[in-house]
Amino acid sequence: MHIKPQGPKGYPFIGSITKLASANRLNWLQSMSNTYGDVVRFKLLKRNVYFVNHPDLVKDMLTRSSSNYTKKTIGFKMVKVVLGESTFTAMGDEWRRKRLAVQPYFHRKKIANLATIMTDCIEEMLAEWETVCDEGKTLQTTDAMMQVTLKVVVKALFSTALSDEDIQTVADIFNPLLEATNRRVVLPLPFLYRIPSAKNKQYPEYIAQLDDIIYRIIKQRKTTQDKPMDLLQMLMDATDEETGLPLSDEDLRNEAMTMFIAGHETTANAMSWLWATLSQKPEIREKIEQEVDQVLGKRTPVAADFSNLPYCQKVFKETMRLYPPVPMLPRHVESDDVLGNYTLKGGSDVLFSAYLLHRHPDFWDQPETFNPHRFDADAEKQQHPYAYIPFGGGPRMCLGNNFAMMEAVFILAMATQRFKLNLTPNANIKPLISLTTRPKYGVPVILERR
Ligand code: HEM
Repeated sequence: MHIKPQGPKGYPFIGSITKLASANRLNWLQSMSNTYGDVVRFKLLKRNVYFVNHPDLVKDMLTRSSSNYTKKTIGFKMVKVVLGESTFTAMGDEWRRKRLAVQPYFHRKKIANLATIMTDCIEEMLAEWETVCDEGKTLQTTDAMMQVTLKVVVKALFSTALSDEDIQTVADIFNPLLEATNRRVVLPLPFLYRIPSAKNKQYPEYIAQLDDIIYRIIKQRKTTQDKPMDLLQMLMDATDEETGLPLSDEDLRNEAMTMFIAGHETTANAMSWLWATLSQKPEIREKIEQEVDQVLGKRTPVAADFSNLPYCQKVFKETMRLYPPVPMLPRHVESDDVLGNYTLKGGSDVLFSAYLLHRHPDFWDQPETFNPHRFDADAEKQQHPYAYIPFGGGPRMCLGNNFAMMEAVFILAMATQRFKLNLTPNANIKPLISLTTRPKYGVPVILERR
């Protein structure tokens, strides 16, 4: 028997937009799901929207029916202004071609080539931490994690083509650009961004400044004999499966911009949560210290060490369970469909939330408790694969998951070799969940030498 999803009536004309735009949107969606079931239907202005809150249904949407649940949503349209057509935003055959060209370079074995870039950047960060520690100053880990993950992704893409000053320029542009993009995705009302305010005028200028840097490097690389094995070179060597042609300069620019945006704030936020958690869980921190001391001692990790640091991996995975960097995702329903037993109308949008699935009481025992052993090999096999989706799922699953895992484990391991990070007594750790899940007031710590 097919069921027509039910839900709140909302207000005339605007529907439930005030609920979805509020900081409490996830609580609201959870309570709607408690009342109306695994699929909730509501209105946003004139648009019909469903909220899907069961891993079977999310699996179906992202795998069996992935071509019917597309990225043709207003949020992705907003992101496209910055990224252009890239692996993240493209759809259909265009996406398939891009993904096939880029994917081989993100395989775990290929990512191993980037391990030294990662450890060099982390080493530089830790050298700065020595001074912060000596001076007894507070370290804002949210800033430090943003800086190191941006540096890693920039160096992974362009090796030494960007000087430290260039990277600083990129970082300076990035923060306001990311904030403005987040705002546009959370409040996708195009007329707001057409108002000729100073902020709105700045937006295309930021994009143009980054474009200048990226195109300059692509041009330089084409005219030099020196071809370092970085992601840019890998992308330049990639060919379109159908035509055999290399990616165009615009394609390269779009992929580079995508990796900048998709590949640093996500990892940085998860790492900030990790430091906040470890400072409050000394028994887990001790186990990490034991693993790191035993596997690495004082030496810098190499790619092969990643698989010998299973506890570090589990702690990072559990951090992403409770604080998934991408808490909610949208899709557009192209044509009428039956999802599970629910009938969904074509032309609607769908939302699903990693944050809520990761805490779904039917799939997680004591969901609010931080417990890395959920990711012990046997326990992990018992999990519903779509009750844990920090990297999404199906064919459009995150391309950078191996990259992010290795980077996070190396940051955790290398920082642990030298320091304990202790929250300052006045630290106020509260989540701010919008497009990302980040600590609202940051994660300030005092560094203690081990
Ligand atoms: C902890 C870190 C990360 C998290 C939690 C994360 C999360 C995600 C999620 C949830 C998606 C799926 C979006 C959707 O289905 O609508 C995605 C896609 C993507 N991510 Fe990541 N990501 C991370 C790191 C990275 C890194 C480091 C890179 C690249 C260097 C990257 C590149 C991409 C790309 C290119 C896509 C689009 C894939 C496609 O549609 O074919 N991500 N990511």
